[in-house]
Amino acid sequence: MNEKQRLESTQVESSDKKSSKDYSQYFQAVYQPPSLKDAKKRGKEEVNYLEGEFSIPDDMLEIGKGKKFLIRTYGCQMNEHDTEIMAGIFMQMGYEPTDKAENADIVLLNTCAIRENAENKVFGEIGHLKPLKIKNPDLLIGVCGCMSQEESVVNKILQKHPFIDMIFGTHNIHRLPHIVKEAMFSKEMVIEVWSKEGDIIENLPKVRKGDIKGWVNIMYGCDKFCTYCIVPYTRGKERSRRPEDIIEEVRHLARQGYKEITLLGQNVNAYGKDFADTKYGLGDLMEELRKIDIPRIRFTTSHPRDFDDHLIDVLAKGGNLMEHIHLPVQSGSSAVLKLMARKYTRESYLELVRKMKERIPNASFTTDIIVGFPNETDEQFEETLSLYREVEFDSAYTFIYSPREGTPAAGMVDNISMEVKKERLQRLNAVVNELSAKKNLAYQDQIVEVLVEGESKNNPEVLAGYTSKNKLVNFKGPKSAIGQIVKVKITQAKTWSLDGEMIEEAVEVN
Ligand code: 5AD
Ligand code: SF4
Repeated sequence: MNEKQRLESTQVESSDKKSSKDYSQYFQAVYQPPSLKDAKKRGKEEVNYLEGEFSIPDDMLEIGKGKKFLIRTYGCQMNEHDTEIMAGIFMQMGYEPTDKAENADIVLLNTCAIRENAENKVFGEIGHLKPLKIKNPDLLIGVCGCMSQEESVVNKILQKHPFIDMIFGTHNIHRLPHIVKEAMFSKEMVIEVWSKEGDIIENLPKVRKGDIKGWVNIMYGCDKFCTYCIVPYTRGKERSRRPEDIIEEVRHLARQGYKEITLLGQNVNAYGKDFADTKYGLGDLMEELRKIDIPRIRFTTSHPRDFDDHLIDVLAKGGNLMEHIHLPVQSGSSAVLKLMARKYTRESYLELVRKMKERIPNASFTTDIIVGFPNETDEQFEETLSLYREVEFDSAYTFIYSPREGTPAAGMVDNISMEVKKERLQRLNAVVNELSAKKNLAYQDQIVEVLVEGESKNNPEVLAGYTSKNKLVNFKGPKSAIGQIVKVKITQAKTWSLDGEMIEEAVEVN
């Protein structure tokens, strides 16, 4: 089938209910579809650290000369960072970036599977790309990221969107040059999704999005298997990078003038638990990183269960370790937490926060909350509201529960109506807003240190940046302040941000 026939065959394919097995005969060589069942398995195999695994075939080194790539990124910071790596790979192949799909020779959708609406957005975008592909059959379109790890998504793309040229998984990023090569020269859709996580590959290139704040992956995957969550299936088992590789990367960024580092992991404070030969955790790593001459270090996202005393003690030392803790609670009801398999109770969460507040009195707390989990009663939802007030979170990401195929919760009866879910979300958001406004009010007339990121999104006359506690501050100041940490006096506290005036340039930190 040539490219044109394949595009025109959309209708035929969509009524064709072939199983993925049938397709495997059809696609032969480059057909490695995902399996959530395999992704669930956790083996004892040791992780290999590969320094020279990534390479670009000679004939692909200049393949992108005069061509452009676009990567649209959905979802979390991990995906954003994966995009930086894929951008680095494209640039090594000679491609230039573009932000217009019409000008691109390759478009990748780096997808998120966390909730149904995240997936719907991607399918909407796939639909928008079809006319471009029809106009320019040489355009290569790829789907990668978490959605490509799901059989149901791959089957839907095969059946409804056969004009997609390549699908590859979260463990196949280093294979991008090979996948692109295959897609360029093959007439069929290239599918390469490994369901079992691979090794840790240390020599991947990166093109970072900015030169002020940088992300550093410290571990991959998640073994927590919260019953609602697809991440342990799409990102594989927990694998920690070696401390020396992380420290070197942070040092490198410090030398390049970066002002802030965020350590990334799906379950970042499980860092080191997979080291067989040594007892070394996130607290130990932070202890080393705080000695590096970089003004700010953050980390995300933590699981309450893995937040140990040593980590709290190290954070309490302050310095360049920022006093902001994002600690997803998900629910304030012990019964719901049990159904979610979060492995802590309302009481133990509150106790942990109490301990942290005692040791790190300046800390600000933010969280993630899911409403409308199967069987959640009104009283249990009220417990979430009361916990929120008790902790006095600064803000929260709040979500309506979305069943994810293949997870244990998807097998529970989703017995809360959408009307009730929406009403609970509204009530929760009202509390979140109220507390955020109250917390921000305490900043009125105070002086804060702001890492200036650039012009404000809504007003180029105004600069914007974040405080150490992660508060957004908009203020008038000279453009020369961009990339610096400056002192700002808060003139107006709003619900979600603070307005101020710069009073002093370039604060000496540490
Ligand atoms: N439905 C709704 N929210 C979810 N999250 C994870 N899985 C789901 C789901 N199935 C939320 C959790 C998590 C955040 C990243 O996304 O709150 O902390
Ligand atoms: Fe998902 Fe986070 Fe639970 Fe892991 S710890 S399963 S990423 S919610």
